[in-house]
Amino acid sequence: MPYLARARRPCRTGRVTASLETPAAPAPAAPPDPAAHAAAAGVPDGAAVDAAAVLADARAHLVPGVADRHRIIGGGGIETAGDGARVRLSNGRSALDFGSYAVTLFGHRPPSVVAAVHRALDGLPTSTRLLANPHAAGLAARLAALVDPGRLERVCLGLNGSDAVEAALKLAIARTGRPAILAVEGAFHGKSMGALAATFDPVRRGPLAGFLGDVRHLPPEPAAVARALADEPAAALIVEPVQGEGGGRILPPDLLRRWARDAHDAGTYVIADEIQCGLRRCGPVSLSVAHGMRPDAVLLGKPLGGGVMPLSAAVCTEDLFRPLLDDPYFHTATFGGHPASCAAGIAALDLLDDLPFDAVAADLAAGIAGLAGRHGGVLADVRSVGLFAALQFRSPDRAGLAVLEAGRRGLLLAQCLTAPDVVRVLPPVVATPDELAEGLSILDAACRAVARRHP
Ligand SMILES: Cc1ncc(COP(=O)(O)O)c(C=O)c1O
Repeated sequence: MPYLARARRPCRTGRVTASLETPAAPAPAAPPDPAAHAAAAGVPDGAAVDAAAVLADARAHLVPGVADRHRIIGGGGIETAGDGARVRLSNGRSALDFGSYAVTLFGHRPPSVVAAVHRALDGLPTSTRLLANPHAAGLAARLAALVDPGRLERVCLGLNGSDAVEAALKLAIARTGRPAILAVEGAFHGKSMGALAATFDPVRRGPLAGFLGDVRHLPPEPAAVARALADEPAAALIVEPVQGEGGGRILPPDLLRRWARDAHDAGTYVIADEIQCGLRRCGPVSLSVAHGMRPDAVLLGKPLGGGVMPLSAAVCTEDLFRPLLDDPYFHTATFGGHPASCAAGIAALDLLDDLPFDAVAADLAAGIAGLAGRHGGVLADVRSVGLFAALQFRSPDRAGLAVLEAGRRGLLLAQCLTAPDVVRVLPPVVATPDELAEGLSILDAACRAVARRHP
């Protein structure tokens, strides 16, 4: 713990780029027994952490713009511990976490996941890669039994969501011998090269344009896939049933079914990227399966590691998986199928049936609708599906300010990457009714603050 031993030194951070209102309400109370909580988490008491030094190092050696944002939202404090819907900061404050890039669907540190990881660490935390690993094989069997039993039987394991995207695209291109891919306007599939190629965001694609291969982004129109495939065959259609970074845009099931049918008729594989919307975040384990798309691969990530470990999976048909049956080393990665991650994944899947997804989703939907009624001046639209709500502000500036204002008041939210006028509200399923009400009341205050700055 170098930051504990080090003497305090002046913060080297530069100018703050946004000014904020002083929160009208006091910061929310800390969780019941913060010291016991921190000790249980193996984290030093917040007061003992040199937050200024952490922020200075982050600014000097990581990405300065991100470090500045962290400092503003944390009021100078840094994250030190988490439990359920709440994280604790080094400055004694706590915050509700309805963001975390959609990872903490089961809350922070779900006890059964943490226990499973501990057990894996006490056994063989790193796979030899020359012997079968029970955690990896066990997780693959569980996913095959869960996502679309009897159809999606083969699993390719990775760590980040982009790993699953890369694997699925590689399999489809190798299987068909076609270099082209179809994706959707507004889509987000990640930022590694192949995943970025399928991502819509012109700003992030721009500098890499010559490197990204043949990807066509389609408008959400029924004939779009058939039209594109009549022009040029493609290996795969990759689609998010609910676009996460694209603004919580819900693609209608009829449209998805039509696209999938047209793709299959042309020998094009259908890859459902459910890394953000799947695993019950938006209702079912797999929206594409529930909608009857008969996908050739469902991609999962983010909460798959229980919010504790990095883990992703491409759950595929035997047919799409063929290149890996022919050549076992067609696609490998040193840490793919990491035992501790897979142990976390198995424990996370165990949670899917036991938690009150529908009740929390109903409360969230009602609360979000109320916000829309009260804040029409700043909000252009709101939508919610399951535990995924999207607040569409009247400008990206307003959305960015709302994230900062909410953060300062003790609510962590995520702005959408490819639709920056939209803020996502992603409560964990373990949020209590009181925590949900607290989060919505902070959102109310943040919207009022935005309205005062941008009438
Ligand atoms: C739908 C979707 N696909 C892929 C990714 C990429 O995942 P990762 O950032 O873990 O690589 C994301 C990340 O936000 C995502 O939302």
